[in-house]
Amino acid sequence: MNGFTRIPESRWLRSRDLKLEESSAPASFYTSQEQFELEREQVFRRAWLSVARVEELPNAGDFVNLDILTLKAKLILVRGDDGEVRGFHNSCAHRGVMVVQKEKGNAAQFRCPYHAWVYGTDGKLRTIPGADMFPDVKCGHDGLPPVHTGIWNGFIFVNFAKEPEESLEEFLGEAGVLFSDLPFEDYNHELRFPQPLATNWKHISNAFTEGYHLGFLHKNSLPFVFDRENPLTDYPTVRFMGRHSANITGANSKWQPTKPVMRFALETGFAADAELEPAGKKLMDHPAINPDRIDPIMEEAINIFPNTQIQVLRNGYLWYQYWPSGPNEMLWDVRLFLDRAPHSFRTEFAEASYVAASRDVLAEDSSMGELQQQGLISGGLERVKYGENEFMLRHFAQTLTNYIEGKV
Ligand code: FES
Ligand SMILES: [Fe+2]
Repeated sequence: MNGFTRIPESRWLRSRDLKLEESSAPASFYTSQEQFELEREQVFRRAWLSVARVEELPNAGDFVNLDILTLKAKLILVRGDDGEVRGFHNSCAHRGVMVVQKEKGNAAQFRCPYHAWVYGTDGKLRTIPGADMFPDVKCGHDGLPPVHTGIWNGFIFVNFAKEPEESLEEFLGEAGVLFSDLPFEDYNHELRFPQPLATNWKHISNAFTEGYHLGFLHKNSLPFVFDRENPLTDYPTVRFMGRHSANITGANSKWQPTKPVMRFALETGFAADAELEPAGKKLMDHPAINPDRIDPIMEEAINIFPNTQIQVLRNGYLWYQYWPSGPNEMLWDVRLFLDRAPHSFRTEFAEASYVAASRDVLAEDSSMGELQQQGLISGGLERVKYGENEFMLRHFAQTLTNYIEGKV
């Protein structure tokens, strides 16, 4: 459990110590169709991918319909009468029609609109009109094509391999053990912002694993982070757990809200501020989070390879999923979970302020991602450079390449 790599004191030693000396990557790592296809087939079709929370399916018969952009996969997740959550391709066993059209709901059974084949919530065929026309199809046996599912700490993962190379537990390794009982289930007030972007998915992932840009790009939108004593906004703690990782963004202990409107919003505890105690802070106080007790802290981000980041905030958590649909396009699914819904004018206002402030930060990152991709597609720059302080980008590039090559 304590075997993960912690960064040493001097940031200039990190990359060498971690054997992450690759200080650049070809532009094609971000722009080429071939690289995208390798990622789609050798990463997204092999790795465990987080797609939903168990709170979305509390009761037997509850289902959600998912569109997994990267693999053009249409899935339904459904909780059966036995309490199990199962995943299926939304594709009728007869001639393939998408059986379930509703985005989510509760159903006792699913009926295909074309020839009325009926499936139970366990995915098995129940009835076929004119069953004797199909002597080889067995009700109670054949059914919707299944996809492997697993649950870790309330997150539902799917795996598209015929037979996954590792169980979800093995795939998550130490990170899965360390963060296994973070109380995500206590945060159920959700705000969701799916953003289609004209960029490579790795740029957005990269933007949340380096602090270098925070004092420049987000100087105004994250005023409580910039600290003259840490001018490149180095992360005070980074942990590598095999292919997964975690990184802490600190905050400036001397910062005070200057505008009355900001103070008003922060006092409710809705904002991920540097100073004030929010009402619900169980996630941030968990012993697995912030092992060095950095204070003040803005967030600790848990990076689950390949496309998930969970940011533990002072007032809840953010769950990012990055879904590429080509080298130059992606969906950034942003899900924010807070511990309570607003319950007064003041808390309504505070939440709106927090969301507006987050929107500015995210829009800054999105716009850089799009400008970066346009700059790279232009074709003049042969290699992007990773600084010593961008060692998490090196780690991710190396992990991704190793995974594609079957080395991790
Ligand atoms: S395609 Fe579904 S019943 Fe025919
Ligand atoms: Fe950013």
